[in-house]
Amino acid sequence: MKKLRVKNIEKYLFSKFPKTDAEKWDPDGLLVGKPGAVVEGIACALNATPETVEVAKKEGCNVLVTHHPAYLEKPSISAIKSGDILENGLNAATVSAALKNDVALINMHTNLDVSSEALHVPSKLTGFRFSKRLIEPNGGAFSSKGSLRGSYGCILSTASKSVPVIARIFGKAYNTTFALLCKKRPKTPKRIAFCSGTLDAEIGARALEKNVNFLVCGEIHYHDALALCDAGASIMCLGHDASEKPYAELLENLLKCEFKDVKTTVIKEKNLLLEIK
Ligand SMILES: [Fe+2]
Repeated sequence: MKKLRVKNIEKYLFSKFPKTDAEKWDPDGLLVGKPGAVVEGIACALNATPETVEVAKKEGCNVLVTHHPAYLEKPSISAIKSGDILENGLNAATVSAALKNDVALINMHTNLDVSSEALHVPSKLTGFRFSKRLIEPNGGAFSSKGSLRGSYGCILSTASKSVPVIARIFGKAYNTTFALLCKKRPKTPKRIAFCSGTLDAEIGARALEKNVNFLVCGEIHYHDALALCDAGASIMCLGHDASEKPYAELLENLLKCEFKDVKTTVIKEKNLLLEIK
């Protein structure tokens, strides 16, 4: 039987989440490791960190597939050699840990964000019906061959559930607490916009243009929130990590189905945003 190699994992993931869908600044794919190395096991996580690399190794996995990349800009050789988080940053420490533990790092980031699979996650988790993409690819001129780059977020129908009920449903579905940012207490929304990770003012503005003013996201910068709330939006933040952790499961599910003979696992990472009771 032909051995499964690291490059086969990357190739398969790019067949599901094409590189052409990613932002140009986003280094998706194999960032650390040998393309020809034989795969012993695949661990999936939201983040590539020294901790998740070590958990992958302990689990007998020499490939770590994550949503977030280990770095946006490659750390210098001296920073990687040092591997000190506080002195040289998390990215260098992660690459250092990956090289030390012989764990290959592959990520699917903004190409996964805009995929149909990712955009249906909130509907699957909450039960709210998927209505449509928040931003149509190519400004609406979408063809099946076109890139999905920039087509972030989706609109969900809430069946006129009240805001506290919507908040409870999201809190439970994403296993998190939340913060609500608004100028006026929001009325019961018929539709909501969802954007995992960071919501920026531009994406939020597209929701308002579509008369959707209840926005659910991972996080938002204060000044973007201020602009959107001034324009009439209410914004529920679930925590960047909580809003994107289901992507680790999404990736593992796909890999498990495609590569049935290889061990796959999901690494559980703790949320940084904790509720104080
Ligand atoms: Fe993210």
